[in-house]
Order: sequence, then C-alpha cells, then structure tokens
Amino acid sequence: MTTQVTHAVIPVAGFGTRMLPLSKAVPKELLPLGNRPAIHYVVEEAIAAGIKNIVLVGHAQKSAIENYFDMNAELDNQLRAKDKVEIADSLNWLPEDVSVSMIRQGKPLGLGHAVLKARPIVGDSPFAVMLPDVVLNPFTTKMDQDNLAYMIHAFEQTHHSQILVSQVDDKDVHKYGIAKLKDADQLSQLTGDKNANFAVAGFVEKPQLADAPSNLAVVGRYVFTSTIFDYLANTQPSVGGEIQLTDAIDALISTQGVDITTMLGDSFDAGDMTSYMQAFIYFAQQQLSA
Ligand code: G1P
Repeated sequence: MTTQVTHAVIPVAGFGTRMLPLSKAVPKELLPLGNRPAIHYVVEEAIAAGIKNIVLVGHAQKSAIENYFDMNAELDNQLRAKDKVEIADSLNWLPEDVSVSMIRQGKPLGLGHAVLKARPIVGDSPFAVMLPDVVLNPFTTKMDQDNLAYMIHAFEQTHHSQILVSQVDDKDVHKYGIAKLKDADQLSQLTGDKNANFAVAGFVEKPQLADAPSNLAVVGRYVFTSTIFDYLANTQPSVGGEIQLTDAIDALISTQGVDITTMLGDSFDAGDMTSYMQAFIYFAQQQLSA
C-alpha cells in the first residue's frame, strides 16, 4: 500500500436544485466564477497539491464536465487554422501527467455513496475528496502551500485521515458537518494565520445550533485512507435519508486516527444562489483588476 495521495474524488452528481434555473441545462459545476467554470478552480487546487488523477462521480446529464477537461481536437485545429494560437494554447492547460475521468453514481443515495463509487479506480491508496460546491479563494491563498497540500503533507507524516474545517457563524451550523473536539481548549490554539492540525472526537451532520458540539464546520476537503471505503460499504442511510460520509468518518475514528486541519483563507459556496452571485462578482473583480 502506498502512502502517496495521487487521486482526488470529486462528486458531481447533484442536481443543483439551489442553483435553478441556471443549473437546469448546465451542470452547476460549469457555471462561471469570473472567467472560468467553478470546477476549474477546484481541479487547479488539486493539481497544485500534487494530485494526478481526478475522478468525477457523476451521471448522464453531467458529461459536459468531462468534456470541459478533454482536448477538443476539432476546435483546436480550427483555432490554429485561424491563427488563434494563443487561445488554442490556453485551452491546453491541463498538465500531460494529469488525467480526468468520470464514473457514474447510478442511484443518488448520498455523498457517502458517491465516494464509495470511486473505489474501483482509487483502490487501496489514500485519496482526497473535494466537494465542488466549495471553491477556496484562489486570490488570497497560495494554493501550492496551503490547505489541501498541507493536509496531504500531514497525512504523509501521521497516516491519519484529514478533514478540513473552518469556523462558521452560529446561524450556519445547521448546513454543515460539525466537528466534536477532544479538548475544547484546542479552539484557543486557532490563530487564523497558519493551518492547525489535531485529533477529533467525531462529527455531527447538520445539527441544530443547540446540539452543535462546536462551530467548526467541515469545509469539503478530505484526505482518507482507503479503509473509509469499508465503512462506507456498511453505512446505513441517516440524515436526509442519505448515506452520509460523516457517519463513515465517525466509524473510522473508532479504529484509526482522524485529524482536523483548520482552513487558511476563505471559501465560497458556489452551490447556493446568493453566495454564488457574491462569488461571481468577487472573482470577476479580481480578474478585471489583474
Ligand atoms: C456536505 C457534507 C457536510 C459538509 C458540506 C460542506 O453537505 O455532508 O458535512 O459540511 O458538504 O459543503 P452538503 O452541503 O452536500 O449537503
């Protein structure tokens, strides 16, 4: 078994109901943030962290995402024939040694089920999971040094699965998986200017505020040992009638170390209309003033 993290699983099967009507005919992951589709930034983040294989878990209406990452030879020829070499070159940004593939989820049984579907491709290696609704701010963090790269490094040192968390307002805890700390004093160690990393006691998926064990929310970046697949295979539907990744993480905690990594920089929810529109404006402003 290798300890190298070379695969990132990106679940893209969701219908994006919070993004209708934009997501009716266009997958929400391809909606623009400034001058790129949202998922472009997520894949760039993965590549900056050293990931070589991107595994999209989708369904029939999501094949446009796979096409976005594929070479379109006809378009390339046409652009070059018309001397639009610069545009043609800009479309070939994916490094040669990075592959993007898609498998299908089949039944929409939840995030945990989607991740389990990647097992035949990932095999026995540790791997990352990246939720594409969450786009980390690429303008304030230097991605090759931050967050996912930090988590992969921490994993390689400790062999503990890593879950990225960030503090959220009380009014938002019901939208997230929330971390239960082993020691509440750990919160005082958070400085905000560097990633912190410590063991976690468990997670509660989308609690009411009164039941929330902290305000540290699961952001949507994970590094797992392949053992998570065994637990996912045995996880029963729970919150929302879905097979939840957080339940399998809790089971993993009982047999293997699992750590949380605190997030540096900020993130955008590109799967929610209000935050998506705010993110679009921010990305466009950054790019227009560059
Ligand atoms: C998922 C996870 C949740 C996490 C959230 C981050 O929920 O189940 O633990 O906090 O992503 O965006 P979803 O938003 O897919 O319902």
